[in-house]
Amino acid sequence: MSTTLVVYESKYGLTERMARDLGRVLGPARVCRATDLASVAPGAGVCHEALTAATFVVVVAPVYRHRPDQRIIDFVMGAQEWLRARRVALVCVGLATSAGAVRTYLEPLSSVLGASVVWTGGLGGRVALNWLDTADRQEIEASGELRGHRGLDDLDSFSAEALAEAALAIKAVRDRYTNAMPPAELRRVIEDFLAAHTTCTLCTGAGEHVRATPLEYAYQSGVLYLVSEGGEKFAHLLVNPRVSVAVHDDFCGMDRLAGLQMLGVAAVLDDAAPERASALALRGLDEVRLAAMPYALNLIRVRIERAEFLWSRFRDQGYDLRQTLAFSAEGEYDAATPRD
Ligand SMILES: Cc1cc2nc3c(=O)[nH]c(=O)nc-3n(C[C@H](O)[C@H](O)[C@H](O)COP(=O)(O)O)c2cc1C
Repeated sequence: MSTTLVVYESKYGLTERMARDLGRVLGPARVCRATDLASVAPGAGVCHEALTAATFVVVVAPVYRHRPDQRIIDFVMGAQEWLRARRVALVCVGLATSAGAVRTYLEPLSSVLGASVVWTGGLGGRVALNWLDTADRQEIEASGELRGHRGLDDLDSFSAEALAEAALAIKAVRDRYTNAMPPAELRRVIEDFLAAHTTCTLCTGAGEHVRATPLEYAYQSGVLYLVSEGGEKFAHLLVNPRVSVAVHDDFCGMDRLAGLQMLGVAAVLDDAAPERASALALRGLDEVRLAAMPYALNLIRVRIERAEFLWSRFRDQGYDLRQTLAFSAEGEYDAATPRD
């Protein structure tokens, strides 16, 4: 299986926390200190295993005195041949996050790694004066430049939202480089899986309100049709039409995994909607049967935008376990092909 290695260093702890958060979003992944990777011998623990298996590497470097942590520079210099044979995302963590600052901070790493770097970005760091050793504290207090011209009581540019956005952006780039099944074939596999199942979990959300609803579905041409007598999900859809839908097999062992997650946009089809009759027919319903019921049934259309399928049988066919397919608005697939 392709795995991701997140390499970090951290003097005061924030970069370590951020690296672990990135690793969770990018799983299957290992998160290792650069100095641990430099010292591990074959067979000596999880970091060595990760070094052998990783096809994608995220280097997370805290910035001190306008440069990435020296231990990160040493790791990149020492492992440059190995890194250049993989795809690498470079992330710096500092008080300054402007595009110019990030470019300057990452230059000692990007200049060594060249075309293997497929994503770069800067994330806001934090300085708590009472964490610092004496030398660092004196320097930070004396130098407005090191503080990114922030006041001494404003040394926090960390943002959980920015970290989450960066993690998702790196994941999207990484997933372009998986060992991908051709899109037309992948679409057939996904459609066969949807045809072989009847029930999904529809996830809706608006602000603090979230809900996962089991529902039967019918699938046609990139669209799911769901019928519901009503409930809280319709309150969410009023505010936020974006939904996630899951269809999966029960767990029967690691060699028989099958779980499909879809992202899409939902719309409630009212009585005047032109596709309502054909959608109801797909669910074995018609307006006469609906009129005979003591309450109204509501029809939801979900246009699938992206499907992510984790399926053990991909591996049997020589592909990565997890495959992603982008659907266009018309329900046709777009080839999510690598850049090179
Ligand atoms: C001595 C020192 C120098 C720093 N220099 C810079 C700097 O040049 N540019 C910057 O953006 N942030 C700078 N910072 C802020 C750190 O990058 C930030 O505190 C980061 O969160 C540190 O990560 P850590 O908690 O993993 O050590 C500096 C912090 C210290 C303590």
